[in-house]
Amino acid sequence: MGTLLEEIKKKAVKAQKTIVLPEGNDLRVVKAARIITDEKIAKVILLGDEKEIKKLCPDFNSDGIIIRNPKTEDVSEYANILYELRKNKGMELAKAEQLCRDEMYFGVMLVKCGEADGMVGGAIHSTGDMLRPGLQIIKTAPGISTVSSCFVMVLPKGCEYGDNGVMIFGDCAVNPNPTAAQLADIAVASADSAKRIAGIKEPKVAMLSFSTMGSASHELVDKVKEATALAKSLAPDVMIDGELQLDAAIVERVGKLKAPNSPVAGKANVLIFPDLQAGNIGYKLVERLAGAEAVGPICQGFNKPLNDLSRGCCVEDVVNVTAITVMQASK
Ligand code: ACO
Repeated sequence: MGTLLEEIKKKAVKAQKTIVLPEGNDLRVVKAARIITDEKIAKVILLGDEKEIKKLCPDFNSDGIIIRNPKTEDVSEYANILYELRKNKGMELAKAEQLCRDEMYFGVMLVKCGEADGMVGGAIHSTGDMLRPGLQIIKTAPGISTVSSCFVMVLPKGCEYGDNGVMIFGDCAVNPNPTAAQLADIAVASADSAKRIAGIKEPKVAMLSFSTMGSASHELVDKVKEATALAKSLAPDVMIDGELQLDAAIVERVGKLKAPNSPVAGKANVLIFPDLQAGNIGYKLVERLAGAEAVGPICQGFNKPLNDLSRGCCVEDVVNVTAITVMQASK
């Protein structure tokens, strides 16, 4: 990943964006805030209590970092905006005020109000708790109805698959059981992430299944077929094909044999898994057994970028995901 991430960081420095890190009560996040600021990857708004942050990290230097504490500052303006946004969903003003004191909601409100360009959280919150405020408040980008995620998979040196050893896997973190329409959205968004984040010039998107071009019949296969047709109509300029088994998607010899007329078979660099069980297990298998580096999950489809960290993340992951978020904010 060395060179790709270095490129992303260089572009982030030029973009000069502001990113909220809501989990100022986590040492990894505090350390990352310092590095991001020193390397000028982004201007950081760190949420938390300054005294608590100093207790957590006694040598913390806050120069250049904006620290805000939703537990003590006046959140009434944000609460009013949140109330207006959600009152048709039953939100009451008192509840909106209470939510704005929560660092995840407050961080998302800063993004919503344009005080920050994106947010990176999830070092101590579950994916659901990280994404829910974004789904409710930031919503999807115009023309997109599904927020999903992808991983940039950097395969070990010398690996023959992908685009110069880089592949995109989607969705591995958000939609447990996508409909055909959601699967189509995931395919289109993943192709876009392949271009924008991984620098893959020509995404070749394989809609994965346990069947290749009708070799098996099952309602699960039908869903992938339907999703393939929908994705093709949503993005006629992108190479998308399916349904394909994994080997037919990435191994040239098998692709030629099983799907001889497919422009994607045997050459896929973007893999779309049929559901979250397959996607989540799939990326972890490649990471653990093949020794690939899995960068992400990177959220796609939001109207403004929000990204989720794994709770097992390290300081470097927070820095890297922040750089990626800046890239998404500058598109
Ligand atoms: N895209 C767009 N909007 C969505 C999506 C989506 N994928 N999912 C939910 N929404 C919207 C809903 O329409 C709703 O909008 P509204 O309130 O304005 O009507 C709002 O978001 C909240 O929806 P809920 O159904 O209440 O949200 P839910 O509690 O289902 O949470 C979530 C959604 C968080 C994405 C959930 O599906 C989830 O937990 N997914 C799995 C995450 C996970 O555990 N991943 C594995 C671990 S990650 C890893 O290993 C790297």
